[in-house]
Amino acid sequence: RWVAVLSGGLSHEREVSLRSGRRLSTALRSVGMTVGEWDADSRLVTRIQDERPDAVIIALHGGEGENGAVQSVLDMLGVPYVGTDQRACRRAWDKPTAKAELARAGLSTPDWVVLPHATFRELGAQAVLDALVGKLGLPLMLKPDQGGSALGARVVREASELPSAMVGALAYGDTVLVEQFIEGVEVAVSVVDTADGPEALPAVRIEAADGVYDYTARYTAGLTSYEAPADLAPEVAARAGELAVAAHKLLGLRDVSRTDAIIDQHGVPHFLEVNVSPGLTETSLFPMAVEAADRSLGEVFAGLVEKAIT
Ligand code: DAL
Ligand code: MG
Repeated sequence: RWVAVLSGGLSHEREVSLRSGRRLSTALRSVGMTVGEWDADSRLVTRIQDERPDAVIIALHGGEGENGAVQSVLDMLGVPYVGTDQRACRRAWDKPTAKAELARAGLSTPDWVVLPHATFRELGAQAVLDALVGKLGLPLMLKPDQGGSALGARVVREASELPSAMVGALAYGDTVLVEQFIEGVEVAVSVVDTADGPEALPAVRIEAADGVYDYTARYTAGLTSYEAPADLAPEVAARAGELAVAAHKLLGLRDVSRTDAIIDQHGVPHFLEVNVSPGLTETSLFPMAVEAADRSLGEVFAGLVEKAIT
């Protein structure tokens, strides 16, 4: 088998994706696969047509790699690929859409408001900020409605921090997702499709050194401590796994995903978001979960390649 691993791309997460692609390629070679490491650039279409890989694996993060654009191109070319199809990518990539879908199914997700930039012009910044705190209280979590790696995301504990957090989120798009910030244990639950359906891997607990799991805390070795598997009561771990599998199924995701959640003081997990292309870097959560399950990244993805081809 020979597979092309797509990484890089044009999004803000380009550097992260290059690291994911490198690690995944090494893992696949270690299980005997022939791997082409391709930067997803303007030559992608001709390259696929000329070199005809047996399958493509999308190790792109953010933007066109997760919003369904690259997936549409691969669908048009008829090349098998590992990962979620374009329609489901669109749903999962838009955080408010994913939250609404889960809330409709009765799953818990922090209360939220979607705030387009234009609302500021219409109502005035102060009125908007007052209304937000009035509706959701404090603390709040602000993020771009579409994005990854915590870029533009910020916790707001006091109203005076709201304007700069809003500007920070708006730097990455024109709509902000404002959520209630729930205090609790931050976990990530990875999911892998098997012949018997989606399976949750052990939850990984995240503890950022200063409590803020931002871009630097994610990708600088040693800044964040991880517990894999997370030391949770068995029923709490089971609930977290069920939430991740439910998100995977409800949104129609394929092959892999990673749900990020907060477990509150009562042991209830609250859905934050789901990632269709989880990071695979040296400090990323998905590979930690695979190791905690006594499996290897190469074996997991080689299995998904076979599934994509057959
Ligand atoms: N968006 C990054 C890559 C992640 O979710 O791991
Ligand atoms: Mg994410």
